[in-house]
Amino acid sequence: MSKADPILEPLQSMANLAERVSQERLWGRLMEMARIGAIPGNGVNRQALSDEDIAARRLLTDWAQDRGFGVLVDGIGNLFLRRAGRVPNAPPILTGSHLDSQPRGGRFDGVYGVLAGLEALEALEDAGMTTDRSIVTVAWTNEEGGRFAPGAMGSMVFSGARQLEDCLEVRDAEGVRFGDALSDTLAATPDVEAVDFNFPLAGYVEAHIEQGPVLEAEEVPIGIVTGIQGLRWFEVEVLGETAHAGAAPLRGRRDALQAALAAIQSLNEVMHDELDTVRFTVGRFEVSPNTPNSVAGQVVFTIDLRHPDAVVLERLSEAVRPICEAAAGGCQVQVRETFNRLPCVFDQGVRGLIAESAQSLTLPAIPLPSGAFHDALFLNDICPTGMIFVPCEKGISHNPAENAKPEDLAAGARVLLLTLAKMAAESTR
Ligand code: HGY
Ligand code: MN
Ligand code: MN
Repeated sequence: MSKADPILEPLQSMANLAERVSQERLWGRLMEMARIGAIPGNGVNRQALSDEDIAARRLLTDWAQDRGFGVLVDGIGNLFLRRAGRVPNAPPILTGSHLDSQPRGGRFDGVYGVLAGLEALEALEDAGMTTDRSIVTVAWTNEEGGRFAPGAMGSMVFSGARQLEDCLEVRDAEGVRFGDALSDTLAATPDVEAVDFNFPLAGYVEAHIEQGPVLEAEEVPIGIVTGIQGLRWFEVEVLGETAHAGAAPLRGRRDALQAALAAIQSLNEVMHDELDTVRFTVGRFEVSPNTPNSVAGQVVFTIDLRHPDAVVLERLSEAVRPICEAAAGGCQVQVRETFNRLPCVFDQGVRGLIAESAQSLTLPAIPLPSGAFHDALFLNDICPTGMIFVPCEKGISHNPAENAKPEDLAAGARVLLLTLAKMAAESTR
């Protein structure tokens, strides 16, 4: 029996392990999940804590339980699938992402990271490989923030960036309390054991589609994410006075819609950036009473503002309130900040392991920043964190046309698997 080659042997076993990732099983599960909340054009509407989200969690739980993995849930509904390691009390390695989607979302945003994590657990099981540390795959609650603002509630509460109590009273557009929707969701998985928030972790790696055009344009299958830009969310309420469209003279009107438009026009001018680095979006604009022949008495609109430079982000954020107040005319204006996050840089060690894993699979990989936020932004506060991107078609996301190739998704899952295996093999002292 030749002596095991200390260099070749581990590489061989890593390559063999990666081959255990099944592209068919991963793609099949993605398509099965995509049927939950399916909307025309290959999209999904699976908003946080909705019936569709509950159905997706149930399906994920069934898949994990069928394979003998432990399933746990914490007080904000974060769902954990656990494959035990040799050292049960050693802090585990965590991977995952989110199952919830935008109202007109795609089949891959978030759910790919959850199912790539499940695929990694399955591949380890198929290979009969025992890791020192347990590896856990998580589905974070309410990453998108479309129904209940802000986003990333599950990972923020888990990491201590936000208290659960500060989430429970948030209401959706129909007036449903987050706390009530959460109770219904937790009641739907009575067979799942409860676990506390913020159990110690040895590291976190999240796989996600890029949601941008770079990897596809560069024809590179793997992105090693360097970090995530900073972001601020605001909700602006403009309060005027509704009046008769035909009888009320324009002079003296307190037209909330005209004031809101003036505010947004001024904000557009301040946010204009020749370098096109500033990301300024008004995505929600609600008018009341919203009839053709009544002057708008109330407008509520949202602001999503992002930038990779914390100083620029702060300066632009400081301008929001005075600009809205200056445009108010006879109306009153209230500006409420709902999300505030500095840019983050991911752990060099984790990025190095991702690069090593891609290299061992001879997969080209490039470093790149993330324009979108992810749950990893908050895990980065509490443990060594990194992200793996895979290409998506034309960078389209938050759109039913979001698309990705099975072979790219499988390649990302293989890099994730090797990265997790390396992190789970590190000393558990
Ligand atoms: O908004 C974001 O960046 C994330 O996709 N939820
Ligand atoms: Mn996402
Ligand atoms: Mn998203």
